[in-house]
Amino acid sequence: MPLCVDVPLRRLLSVMRAIVGRGAARTQAVALIASASLPVPVVHAQSPVTLASPDRRNVVTVAVRNGRLTYALARDGRAIILPSRLGFALRGAAPLDSGLRLVDTQRSTVDTTWTQPWGEVKRVRDRHHELRVRVAETSGLQRELQVTFRAFNDGIGFRYEFPEQPNLGAFEIDDELTEFAMADNAKAWWIPANRKAMDRYEFLYASSPVSMLDTVRTPLTMEMQGGPLVVLHEADLSDYAAMDLARVGERTFRPALAPWADGVKVRGRTPFATPWRTVQLADKATDLVPSVLGLNLNPPSRIADPSWITPMTYNGIWWGMHAGMYSWHSGPKHGATTANATRYIDFAAANRLGGTLVEGWNVGWDGDWIGTHGRDFSFTRAYPDYDLRAVAAHARSRGVSLIVHNETAMGIANYERQLDSAFALYRSLGVSAIKTGYVNDKTAEGHAHTGQFMVRHHRRVIETAARYGITVNAHEPIMDTGERRTWPNMLSREGARGQEYNAGGPDGGNPPEHETILFFTRLLAGPMDYTPGVFDILLAGSSGAARTPDQPRARTTLAKQLANYVVLYSPVQMAADVIESYANQPAFQFVRDVAVDWDTTRVLDGAIGDYVVVARKQRGADRWFIGAITDEQARRFEIPLDFLRPGKRYVAEIYADGAGAHWLTNPLPVSITRRAVGAGERLRLSLAAGGGAAIRIRER
Ligand code: NOJ
Ligand code: CA
Repeated sequence: MPLCVDVPLRRLLSVMRAIVGRGAARTQAVALIASASLPVPVVHAQSPVTLASPDRRNVVTVAVRNGRLTYALARDGRAIILPSRLGFALRGAAPLDSGLRLVDTQRSTVDTTWTQPWGEVKRVRDRHHELRVRVAETSGLQRELQVTFRAFNDGIGFRYEFPEQPNLGAFEIDDELTEFAMADNAKAWWIPANRKAMDRYEFLYASSPVSMLDTVRTPLTMEMQGGPLVVLHEADLSDYAAMDLARVGERTFRPALAPWADGVKVRGRTPFATPWRTVQLADKATDLVPSVLGLNLNPPSRIADPSWITPMTYNGIWWGMHAGMYSWHSGPKHGATTANATRYIDFAAANRLGGTLVEGWNVGWDGDWIGTHGRDFSFTRAYPDYDLRAVAAHARSRGVSLIVHNETAMGIANYERQLDSAFALYRSLGVSAIKTGYVNDKTAEGHAHTGQFMVRHHRRVIETAARYGITVNAHEPIMDTGERRTWPNMLSREGARGQEYNAGGPDGGNPPEHETILFFTRLLAGPMDYTPGVFDILLAGSSGAARTPDQPRARTTLAKQLANYVVLYSPVQMAADVIESYANQPAFQFVRDVAVDWDTTRVLDGAIGDYVVVARKQRGADRWFIGAITDEQARRFEIPLDFLRPGKRYVAEIYADGAGAHWLTNPLPVSITRRAVGAGERLRLSLAAGGGAAIRIRER
């Protein structure tokens, strides 16, 4: 088969042959050139082709059989994904998935370490082997397709590229035909992908064998029989539709792509690259975190100097609305008044919180803002009882970052029309943070919540915000696919059933196991703005009367509310409750102290849906935080403190469930103790049913 080897590489290969002899030339060339990260064409590309991870445990096999391109994945010789099809169904054109031949393959190797400007770990190692496979149709249009595979020790990624070519210019994808044929009937933790109603990620997780799933969201975490853990997701979603997974065979998934209003899934023009499809692998659940596979598959930062982007804890005029104490809309209960915002800002300043969020400040909340797709929302005009300029100036004077809320209700055209003028105004007022919202199933024009139209919109918001020096925290977002590596101003997002469901909504609040599942599913995608820190768990103050057990409220103890700051990673963490709930609460000291930016993260113990114990080292300080949470079972842990510096003494400040604490009957008791600790010692923790423990370990 003729190969298109460019001249310098051809010369290099012949030199290699002269040095090491013909037979070994190819292997040696791969090794030598790889360290320089140059792609090496393989002279005689033959199917099948394999690619192994640096530790050789994960092996991808790519084959062209009977004109079809397939891949398979094994770990330690055991099948994880059986031979699975690759290709596309295109609108108005023949499918691009058959009549194919292998044209050539290229290999390269990368081993580099990069620094996150903020994050759950500071340094990230990107060590992978890459294989590019080029195929072409043997007849007809002879269209070409390339698939790039990367094998890491913690999983694999692959993406399609449509090279520029005479017979493939503009195209429309009707369906992506990629398959994930799971090798056994793994147990999956899943939420439904529901495009008919509630096209969001705000569901409770269920677990069941893969063969019982319908269409589900990613990250999809699965445990194969006898291990390992397998997580399907995607990375670098920049101009494509988000991927859900539809079960199309007993144990086989295929991407279900969210459509444009006319049903097309993706529009593109060559050259074009899809997002990466990722398969994270781990021997045990506790090895899934920190999850950096997706970050490594995103392009490096486009923000040259990210020093203005600062993680923070924040409070806000928010829970009061969800709990019924305030309203977003104008009237006697209007929450976003100048006086109220001033109180929240003063509270933030007095308690060392970095920011204050104000929702319901702008006109447009009166009337049916959801039904009209936020038609009346202005992103610059405030209600008369809210003086935006004065509030922003007050926040600045107190060293608090005002977080401006932009609810769009999926009225995207309305929002995009105002983006520049709104962000210019915010910048002129010294505002450097927004929280966006996308309450609605479709855009006003009928495009899906997570389709390509919306992917492009979110990118536009992130990039415009970056130009104005603004960070973004998105609610009802598209799932995180590692955008923060390229755009570190994309701080956090919701994208799961958060604390807001403990104020209202179906099913009586999130059950005690909820956060122990989120940690091993949703949080593998990236940071989540869960909004922890509800202290008035019974909502006695903000709702007027303590709620009964069948009404929505947090199904946790108070100590678990604290532990969630450490467990559920986000660079922006809210002290979610109304500020009155924090008065005379010694446990609030933990919220004042807790860090939001980390050098390292270590999962000390955990089981999906049961419990999590995680330790994180504060960025740039010899200070550790531990969060431990449990489901409805009380549990005891003995935590070895071997991560502390040997020979040094520390103080552990322990916020634990108090005597008789129980998520259902007695959620409020917290015991706060201090003790001297050092490396080599163990910390005994006793968690109540639905409880937790939050610990700060500082130098003496
Ligand atoms: C739902 C969001 O998740 C919540 O945080 C926000 O307060 C409301 N929408 C109103 O925008
Ligand atoms: Ca929400």
